[in-house]
Amino acid sequence: MTRPRRIIEPFRIKVVEPIRLTTRKERLAHLVEAGYNVFKLRADDVLIDLLTDSGTSAMSAEQWSALMLGDESYAGSRSWYRFEAAVKDIFGFRHVIPTHQGRAAERILFSTVCRPGQVVPSNTHFDTTRANVEATGAVAMDLPVPEGLVPADLHPFKGNMDVGALRTLIAQEGAAQIPLCMLTVTNNTGGGQPVSMANIREVSEVCRTHGIPLYLDACRFAENAFLIKQREDGYADRGVKEIAREMFSWADGCTMSAKKDGLANIGGFLASNDDVLTRQEENLLILTEGFPTYGGLAGRDLDAIAVGLQEVLHEDYLTYRIEVIRYLGEHLTNGGIPIVQPPGGHAVYVDAAAFLPHVPPAQLPGQSLVSEFYLEGGVRAVEIGTTMFGHPDPVTGEEVTARMELVRLAIPRRVYTKSQVDYLVDITLDVWDRRERIGGFRFVEQAPVLRHFTARFEPLYELTT
Ligand code: F0G
Repeated sequence: MTRPRRIIEPFRIKVVEPIRLTTRKERLAHLVEAGYNVFKLRADDVLIDLLTDSGTSAMSAEQWSALMLGDESYAGSRSWYRFEAAVKDIFGFRHVIPTHQGRAAERILFSTVCRPGQVVPSNTHFDTTRANVEATGAVAMDLPVPEGLVPADLHPFKGNMDVGALRTLIAQEGAAQIPLCMLTVTNNTGGGQPVSMANIREVSEVCRTHGIPLYLDACRFAENAFLIKQREDGYADRGVKEIAREMFSWADGCTMSAKKDGLANIGGFLASNDDVLTRQEENLLILTEGFPTYGGLAGRDLDAIAVGLQEVLHEDYLTYRIEVIRYLGEHLTNGGIPIVQPPGGHAVYVDAAAFLPHVPPAQLPGQSLVSEFYLEGGVRAVEIGTTMFGHPDPVTGEEVTARMELVRLAIPRRVYTKSQVDYLVDITLDVWDRRERIGGFRFVEQAPVLRHFTARFEPLYELTT
């Protein structure tokens, strides 16, 4: 009788990078110095870095080889043509504008199409997307399905947009007030949850009826396509690239951070079928990013992305990738830890509000968990809750809290081994065991926008050494 086969890492390791264990006492000193903001830690003082899956992928031998083929010509380089061909092959849009990362594509797009007072709906905007919409004076509006806001709900596509709410918004505002609609695949802020093809299609149909362009925020398009294959009727036998192509066929354009499913350390692009808009966007690109055949990138970066975009669609890679997230989620769930269910594409999201029910949202329970995970085992996670999405009320000064208090354990692509994931489970369980002794935090310093990157905090309880 053969045993069920385990899913293994579909690669072997050629280059290693040491990581350094520190003592609890050292880690507390580092936390205090960082104002309890893990963005301010030195990466050298972190053992397992789950701050983000962005720009942290391990590149393959093919990608490193491609770097050497990089053509650094200012205009019309070979690297550009390889990059453009790879993007068009998968995404299918007529025009591709390279940028140094996703938020540059967002800034160029929104500053070209948005006017003050207009509204940009999304299933859920990511922080940079929201900030770039708001920087134009437009309103960034989140319209997630209700299941998406209930961490324990097992709906398979909690990244979906509430199509009824979209129709209501269009009826209230008028289509002319909505310069575009976005769908973030997967829905990062909402727990790395996928959007179904049925939802993409339905949103697309509503938008087309009203002449509103639909853009996908495509950072994690391959993970979303694979989750469609696993979870949506009718897709089990379809290839992932074919599924990805269908996703984009319903859209009029996309913004992309190649730092995620481009398997690259830097890069991004903006793509669409709009000839007139592209010309305006290219003028802005030249002003701030670079010439249209390199954007803000070196030729070698374009080549690494061209290879990465194709590699990320390999099904053995995606099977392993999604299995790591499922495995981590299952072990935390078995230990009793509340997480966003079912685990999605690139991260496990701990439900900090349920983990620390005695800490009110205004006392930043996610911030407490992030500090405790670092203190316990040198694990760096990120808060996706009131620290990131709340703000002080302009009149009362009281904290307006976020819809959910989450802590994201983002898994870099092809970087950590299974025993490192097991270590992570142990650390999380140890923090869970002493959850009753963990209290809240408060801000001592904060910037008016994107405050989570630079804020300083103070604990409202004593952290144990
Ligand atoms: N859209 C989504 C859904 C993202 O997750 C990100 C980045 C961006 C846009 C912006 O891309 O960083 O290349 O400018 N997310 C990272 C994260 C930073 O940690 O989730 P960028």
